[in-house]
Amino acid sequence: MTILKLLLLLSFLFPAMVDCLVRHYNFRVVLTNTTKLCSTKPIVTVNGHFPGPTLYAREDDNVIVRVTNHVAYNLTIHWHGIRQLQTGWADGPAYVTQCPIQPGKNFVYNFTLTGQRGTLLWHAHISWLRATVHGAIVILPKKSLPYPFPKPHREKIIILGEWWKADVEAVVNQATQAGMPPNVSDAHTINGFPGPFPNCSSQGYTLHVKSGKTYLLRIVNAALNDELFFKIAGHNLTVVEADAAYTKPFETDTIFVSPGQTTNAILKANQPIGKYLIVISPFMDAPIGFDNSTSSSTLRYKLDYNTTTPSNLETTTILTTIPPQNATPITKTFMDSLKSLNSIQYPTKVPLIVDHSLLFTIGVGLNPCDTCASGFKLVGNINNVSFVMPSIALLEAHYHNIKGIFTDDFPVKPPVAFNYTGTSPANIQTMNGTRLYRLSYNSSVQIVLQGTAVIAPESHPTHLHGFNFYVIGSGLGNFDPVEDPKWFNLVDPVERNTIGVPTAGWTAIRFRADNPGIWFLHCHLEVHTTWGLKMAFIVDNGFGPNESLPPPPNDLPQC
Ligand SMILES: *[C@@H]1O[C@H](CO)[C@@H](O)[C@H](O)[C@H]1NC(C)=O
Ligand SMILES: *[C@@H]1O[C@H](CO)[C@@H](O)[C@H](O)[C@H]1NC(C)=O
Ligand SMILES: *[C@@H]1O[C@H](CO)[C@@H](O)[C@H](O)[C@H]1NC(C)=O
Ligand SMILES: *[C@@H]1O[C@H](CO)[C@@H](O)[C@H](O)[C@H]1NC(C)=O
Ligand SMILES: *[C@@H]1O[C@H](CO)[C@@H](O)[C@H](O)[C@H]1NC(C)=O
Ligand SMILES: *[C@@H]1O[C@H](CO)[C@@H](O)[C@H](O)[C@H]1NC(C)=O
Ligand SMILES: *[C@@H]1O[C@H](CO)[C@@H](O)[C@H](O)[C@H]1NC(C)=O
Ligand SMILES: *[C@@H]1O[C@H](CO)[C@@H](O)[C@H](O)[C@H]1NC(C)=O
Ligand SMILES: *[C@@H]1O[C@H](CO)[C@@H](O)[C@H](O)[C@H]1NC(C)=O
Ligand SMILES: *[C@@H]1O[C@H](CO)[C@@H](O)[C@H](O)[C@H]1NC(C)=O
Ligand SMILES: *[C@@H]1O[C@H](CO)[C@@H](O)[C@H](O)[C@H]1NC(C)=O
Ligand SMILES: *[C@@H]1O[C@H](CO)[C@@H](O)[C@H](O)[C@H]1NC(C)=O
Repeated sequence: MTILKLLLLLSFLFPAMVDCLVRHYNFRVVLTNTTKLCSTKPIVTVNGHFPGPTLYAREDDNVIVRVTNHVAYNLTIHWHGIRQLQTGWADGPAYVTQCPIQPGKNFVYNFTLTGQRGTLLWHAHISWLRATVHGAIVILPKKSLPYPFPKPHREKIIILGEWWKADVEAVVNQATQAGMPPNVSDAHTINGFPGPFPNCSSQGYTLHVKSGKTYLLRIVNAALNDELFFKIAGHNLTVVEADAAYTKPFETDTIFVSPGQTTNAILKANQPIGKYLIVISPFMDAPIGFDNSTSSSTLRYKLDYNTTTPSNLETTTILTTIPPQNATPITKTFMDSLKSLNSIQYPTKVPLIVDHSLLFTIGVGLNPCDTCASGFKLVGNINNVSFVMPSIALLEAHYHNIKGIFTDDFPVKPPVAFNYTGTSPANIQTMNGTRLYRLSYNSSVQIVLQGTAVIAPESHPTHLHGFNFYVIGSGLGNFDPVEDPKWFNLVDPVERNTIGVPTAGWTAIRFRADNPGIWFLHCHLEVHTTWGLKMAFIVDNGFGPNESLPPPPNDLPQC
């Protein structure tokens, strides 16, 4: 009998005896035909499922995922939002922490879930494969600990996505060659279904509920480029957690969720028995082309045969209003309502003293391009640096001290100050480079992410790997280093791993660099990551083995 089987048996016979487990998963990356999408074009999936399998575990569990690549693309998987304490080799972004798993090869991701509970997501982290290679991660609290809210009757996973009729790799390759924005998606999906869609008989997803019960919805935005609104007709939702950190509960009729973000909300099935529309629709408050389609599914009450139900409630679907596409005030109200729980059990530990104070401008630019028809290509940048991916993994170059792969001179502030949210400067070219910023172990960091209006202002959901950060402030226009810090929330700011920086505005975050390794920071709109709106931090080792990055695993893929 293996140790795992013994532990499983023990946990079954004596639940209180075993606190943490080793959870094994096999991810076979394969080409799959799916009827959900009303298309005969095969897509890349994990184990033939779209969305892929949910990874269930408890806080403190050790998770082992063996990924085998059976498709013709290079591939890696990122465990989005998992802290990866001292397991930086398992984080997954291609050419940052590992070389890709090449066709026919495999790699074992091995990490432990420390200090987190809630919903996260996993997704491919190379090119645009995450469009179909993604799924939810559910981290249950430790066995002895209840949720800080009433236990729901059932839990439901709701994964929002974005679907192209064309092959997504062809879409991004065509855009890269032209230096132009990629074709927008054809539909948004709810648990893989586009919902009623022209020429598609797919019925869509149905959320079944029983009258009088409560449900925990684990909502994941796995879309590539679209920030989304989520609504259920006739029902409010109570938000209780974001990015696997508990929040103060608040009630809302609209959830706002950016790519890479997750939100747990409680649904009370307290309305008359019937069918209610669930809608997702995009948010865009900038003059930029996007997929403006609305997708829907249905909330359906189980019929109660003991009481007479008016038959029209079964045939009529109750509708809801869809937020305007540019409903900035709805997004602001939602984001301002998010506060960390800050209880005795789950305290908020925002750094009060800042060792590194960074100002990062984030936006786009235009560089010359010999091979592009227009002679130019769109680029993304942070502090005017468009990040160039290296040919081997940054973490390997760091660990083995290989020179010439990256430099550690990433600018602490924009090289030239200008009115970031005003008229574009005359010269909108950027520099390129593989430049990183170095942090000593356990130093505290503040980053003001300042959106620019170069070419067009736009909201940028920014994701930091390896850490949760606190969102201590945000505003419109240019950050004012004298006035704005007076209003920072250092008491109960929301703790998360991805934050939408408002269009033509700024967001300030703080975190403690207590995790040695190389950690990617990038806009989670895949189009902007492709364009170079990314950089990485090096966090040096502290003292002794418990504060150092261990050696790479033996099966780490090679370039
Ligand atoms: C998908 O369906 C097409 C058309 O029916 C078929 O030719 C192809 O072999 C299928 N691919 C897979 C991976 O099942
Ligand atoms: C996972 O990592 C831990 C800690 O390094 C190690 O003890 C364990 O053997 C690894 N498990 C697998 C399956 O590689
Ligand atoms: C992108 O859209 C254009 C215009 O509709 C179309 O001609 C082209 O084939 C599309 N590209 C891909 C990869 O589908
Ligand atoms: C739906 O199918 C009809 C008939 O095949 C076709 O004429 C029409 O263009 C299709 N519409 C869409 C949106 O694909
Ligand atoms: C939802 O909440 C709003 C205010 O937050 C309230 O006006 C409305 O009545 C609530 N609706 C339901 C169905 O509870
Ligand atoms: C969505 O965009 C298309 C193409 O730009 C446009 O024709 C259509 O009117 C838009 N629909 C909505 C609801 O804004
Ligand atoms: C920056 O540009 C904005 C928008 O044009 C303008 O309202 C603002 O006054 C400018 N700020 C400064 C300091 O020039
Ligand atoms: C960005 O870098 C390019 C290339 O060095 C330079 O021409 C441009 O002026 C810089 N822009 C800003 C705003 O720093
Ligand atoms: C970096 O910039 C130089 C000069 O602008 C350009 O020639 C080169 O192609 C750029 N490299 C990449 C990878 O964009
Ligand atoms: C990290 O810094 C904080 C604040 O100074 C301190 O309380 C904590 O003990 C430090 N942790 C380590 C592992 O050094
Ligand atoms: C590592 O060990 C040292 C000495 O035992 C201890 O002071 C420190 O807090 C430990 N750091 C962490 C992150 O546990
Ligand atoms: C896959 O990755 C390897 C290693 O980096 C690289 O040499 C190869 O060109 C990549 N293949 C494709 C199709 O991108």
